[in-house]
Amino acid sequence: MEKTLSIIKPDAVAKNIVGEILNRFEKAGLKISATKKIRLSKIDAKNFYEVHKDRPFFNDLVDFMVSGPVVATVLEGENAVFKNRELMGETNPKEAKVGTIRADFADSIDANAVHGSDSEENAKIEIGFFFAKKEIF
Ligand code: CMP
Repeated sequence: MEKTLSIIKPDAVAKNIVGEILNRFEKAGLKISATKKIRLSKIDAKNFYEVHKDRPFFNDLVDFMVSGPVVATVLEGENAVFKNRELMGETNPKEAKVGTIRADFADSIDANAVHGSDSEENAKIEIGFFFAKKEIF
C-alpha cells in the first residue's frame, strides 16, 4: 500500500471545507492514516517548499502558507500519490478538470486549496516533515 501527504491549505481551512475534502479522499478509497491541524512557522514553510526557493513565486507561497492553519493528512491506498493528484486537479485551478478539488474550491494558483506529494519518494520526505512514526496508523 502506498502513502502520500495531503495538505489542506489556509484558504480551504478558512472556508470550513476540511470535512468535505477529507470525504472526497475517503470516497475515492483512500484511508486517513494520520491527520493534524497545524500552523506552520515561516521557517517550516520555507523548509517544506525548499525545492521552489529560486522560483519567483516562493515568497508569496511561503507568506500564504503561514497565513492560517493547515490540515496535514497521510493518505494510504493503492496508487495513493496518483489518486490524490487526480482528486486535486491541476495546480492552477483555471486548468483543473470539473469535479476536482481545485476546480471546485480553489481561488488562485497560490490559494489552491490543497497540496499533494508528487512522487512516492517525496511523499516519504513530506510525511516525515509533519508526522512521527507513532502518529501514523
Ligand atoms: P503546491 O502543490 O502546494 O506546490 C507548490 C505551490 O506553489 C503550488 O501548489 C502553488 O500553490 C504555488 N505556485 C504559485 N505559482 C506557481 C507556479 N507558477 N507554478 C507552480 N506552483 C505555483
